[in-house]
Amino acid sequence: MIIKSIKLTNFRNHSHYSLECQDETSLILGKNGCGKTSVLEAIYILTRGKSFRATDPEIIKRGTDFYRIELSYSNGETIAATYDGKVKTFITLDKKSKRLPSKNKYPIILFLPSDLNLISHAPGRRRDYFDLIFSQLDETYSTSLTKYKKALRQRNEILKSDRLIKESLFSWNIILARLGTYITSTREQYITKINSLLENTYHSIANNTDTIQIIYHSEVKNLTEQTYLNQLEQNYQKDSYLGHTTFGIHRDDYLFEFNTNPADGSASRGETRSIILALKFIEAKLIEEILHQKPLILLDDVFSELDDSRRRCLVENFKNHQVILTSVEDIE
Ligand SMILES: Nc1ncnc2c1ncn2[C@@H]1O[C@H](COP(=O)(O)OP(=O)(O)O)[C@@H](O)[C@H]1O
Ligand SMILES: [Mg+2]
Repeated sequence: MIIKSIKLTNFRNHSHYSLECQDETSLILGKNGCGKTSVLEAIYILTRGKSFRATDPEIIKRGTDFYRIELSYSNGETIAATYDGKVKTFITLDKKSKRLPSKNKYPIILFLPSDLNLISHAPGRRRDYFDLIFSQLDETYSTSLTKYKKALRQRNEILKSDRLIKESLFSWNIILARLGTYITSTREQYITKINSLLENTYHSIANNTDTIQIIYHSEVKNLTEQTYLNQLEQNYQKDSYLGHTTFGIHRDDYLFEFNTNPADGSASRGETRSIILALKFIEAKLIEEILHQKPLILLDDVFSELDDSRRRCLVENFKNHQVILTSVEDIE
């Protein structure tokens, strides 16, 4: 699917903005703060359902009380979203809905400058990063994760309350154990798949013989649902003192290993960039393999962060995709 145009009204700093997109590469050029990332954000909302960086109230142009965004595809289809300060509505030709309909979801490879620091980020950022990849590949993973997060919030609420009764945790423990065992095994499978492609992809960018792999680090790995449940039960006292759940997939991490050492600290800036680039290429490959769709590539200001040879790799790898990229104007 090819995006033909995007229109924004009262979205971030844009009162009215429209962009006609090219079938191959579209470049959004402008000074810092002129609203380039916001255009990618609007495309992301209309293809994935929500922003990658904010909630809707933060997005409405300050001083106004609604936003509207609209995407047109080359096959004539359109999708719009409106937000009136309370309710977000997705509008297609035949219906209105509060969520982006699955048939309008479209795979995206989003490349933000902050992704280049993925290896040294806090574990939570890495979890979110991989959760987004896996959720895009796997609807069941996506819904299980949403349910897990909701159950975790409820369990933590109970743990924080003054009149805590142990039994009231039981139903949440069961849900967390069931979803947690599914989520950990799915994470492990996808990381194994990514690892099977990582070294070759990395070598195609860096042209050397470095070894690289991602280690999925989880204290719940390979547990049965029953053992997972027992552990939650056993942690009752500790959890009630601390007021949160200390065991589960919400504490997982992904560690990058470079030439058998932790990449954080041993890989150079350039090597780190090549690893992330490899990861993006693999994301696109998995989307094509598993979803049989070509992702749209959104590159936010990353060209300035890459040297010539890595830029060439990026262009070469995504030459058969629709790419929309932003860059800071070269005049200051
Ligand atoms: N809700 C909002 N209303 C009005 N302006 C906003 C809102 N949110 C962000 N902005 C402003 O919009 C501008 C564009 O942000 P952004 O898209 O990140 O710019 P760029 O990517 O071009 O640097 C920023 O100057 C920011 O302060
Ligand atoms: Mg920006």
